[in-house]
Amino acid sequence: MLKLTYHGHSCVELEANGHRIIIDPFITGNQHARIKPRDVKVEAVLITHGHGDHVGDAVEIAKANHCPTVSNFEISNWLAEKGVEAFGMHIGGSHEFPWGRLKLTPALHGSAMPDGSYGGNPAGFLIWMGGKCVYHAGDTGIMSDMALYGRLNPIDLALLPIGDNFTMGLDDAVEAAIMLGCKQAMPIHYDTFPVIPADPKEFVKRAGARGIKGRIAAFGETIEV
Ligand code: NI
Ligand code: MN
Repeated sequence: MLKLTYHGHSCVELEANGHRIIIDPFITGNQHARIKPRDVKVEAVLITHGHGDHVGDAVEIAKANHCPTVSNFEISNWLAEKGVEAFGMHIGGSHEFPWGRLKLTPALHGSAMPDGSYGGNPAGFLIWMGGKCVYHAGDTGIMSDMALYGRLNPIDLALLPIGDNFTMGLDDAVEAAIMLGCKQAMPIHYDTFPVIPADPKEFVKRAGARGIKGRIAAFGETIEV
């Protein structure tokens, strides 16, 4: 069984078989987060790209949990300089961890670090845990590569940004879900800032009309994948 807890924006925790990880731990400054960084108990911190609303509290959480971060090589170097045990990967690569398997996919976006340092290329994640496959798109526009990644890696749940402006908007996210061929799709990266308003119920409605089962996790809610 795989459980997902949504903390708003792109921040989710995944838990299966006693293993727990967090992705894009933007908690401080995230108006939808119901927890504090010190509440997070995980064995890995995954970061899709270098922007501040995704790196978030990664350094504090990794140090407090004595656990590694996992990200692209450039972000890993930046985190290692801050004293974090940082595990570097890159797009197209996969690795088996104690908690599950991770593959990095492309994302169409930027990846500068919060201090302006070079953060490499942004990524999405394919994560296998608890017998399921979750795709976390990161921040991205729609791209036809999604059809290939979905075909090569059958996806149970796709986490897709719908907030527009910086990423896909709602209608492109529905098209992305169709290309991915995912069993279910859940909207992320919306309503955190005034410039990314979106209605997750509208996503579920439009996805449903195209044969994709939409899921919504309320802020702080845990759902079973
Ligand atoms: Ni971003
Ligand atoms: Mn973002």
